[in-house]
Amino acid sequence: MISIIGSGLVGSLIAFLCASNSLDDVVLLNRTKSKAIGEALDISNAIPQNSNITVRGTDDYSEISNAGIIVIAASTGVYLKNRYEKTDAQVEMIKEIGKKIKTNCPSPIILIISNPVDVLTYFFQKETNFSKNNVIGIASSLDSSRFRYSLSKKLGVKQSQISNAYVLGEHGDSMVPIFSKTKINGKNVMEIIDSKQKEAITRGIRNYWKYLRNLISRSQFGIAKNTFDVIESIIDNRTILIPASVLLEGEFGEKDVCMGVPIKITSKGITEIQEMELDESELELLKKSAQIIRKHIQSAKLNAIAH
Ligand SMILES: NC(=O)c1ccc[n+]([C@@H]2O[C@H](COP(=O)([O-])OP(=O)(O)OC[C@H]3O[C@@H](n4cnc5c(N)ncnc54)[C@H](OP(=O)(O)O)[C@@H]3O)[C@@H](O)[C@H]2O)c1
Repeated sequence: MISIIGSGLVGSLIAFLCASNSLDDVVLLNRTKSKAIGEALDISNAIPQNSNITVRGTDDYSEISNAGIIVIAASTGVYLKNRYEKTDAQVEMIKEIGKKIKTNCPSPIILIISNPVDVLTYFFQKETNFSKNNVIGIASSLDSSRFRYSLSKKLGVKQSQISNAYVLGEHGDSMVPIFSKTKINGKNVMEIIDSKQKEAITRGIRNYWKYLRNLISRSQFGIAKNTFDVIESIIDNRTILIPASVLLEGEFGEKDVCMGVPIKITSKGITEIQEMELDESELELLKKSAQIIRKHIQSAKLNAIAH
């Protein structure tokens, strides 16, 4: 069973993708119960005719005790200029959700989408003490989709001609597009673009969500599809390699912080953090990115003590 906590725009879209592809039974759990029930009723009409899966809505954690995968897409409010605007409320929320999951469901694979995703992945893992291999923040794969899209637009190539376009680090202003590994038709992108274009692309993907927010005030399709791909791989027991936020214990030279790094996921959770050789400037930027996330974690800890 797949459970999705938070049946807003993103949560209900992931539920729709899972149900319409008949992946498994889906339980939507939302703070306001009527919303979960309503979305589940609507999504139920998208279940294929030959499928026996079900979609239910609830606000009761005892109903998710059999979940193998739990997606967290809950949010206490909308941020406007910065993903950290609601950090304290979101941290409190994720800890509470963590406690309830731990009480009701012993060993699920957790996919965290709620923002600020790196900080929340950290607090969720610490609160539940679930294996770090089963707690995954999904965002860097979306940033990587944006990187690929921006490269294709700027260089006039098809997305299928681009490979290894990873974005690592924070899901925020310090995210690091890894140009040194990115290839266009097998040729390193660094041989094709100059430093000005590199800077423009980096700025573009960092600000992508702000641009989007001015036009439609939300983002849901990219993150929903990226999350669906992970759920599908877990259920089919296929290995998927994506950049995602995980607790680091020395990998990429970082400890006690969650940030986006390349990981392999199977039905057993994370099976490998794939360290890759980066060039010196990218390593430096990644270090700075980790430091920024750490600072937000630290200030959330201090604020939690003060309240
Ligand atoms: N990782 C990424 O790349 C990425 C991309 C896009 C969005 N996001 C993040 O994903 C999150 C969801 O976005 P959205 O657009 O779907 O937001 P949304 O439409 O506002 O939905 C949030 C839902 O969470 C529910 N909720 C709040 N607190 C809860 C709790 N304690 N337990 C259960 N449900 C709770 C709300 O319930 P009520 O009905 O009671 O209000 C609401 O239905 C946000 O944090 C957003 O920033 C991340």
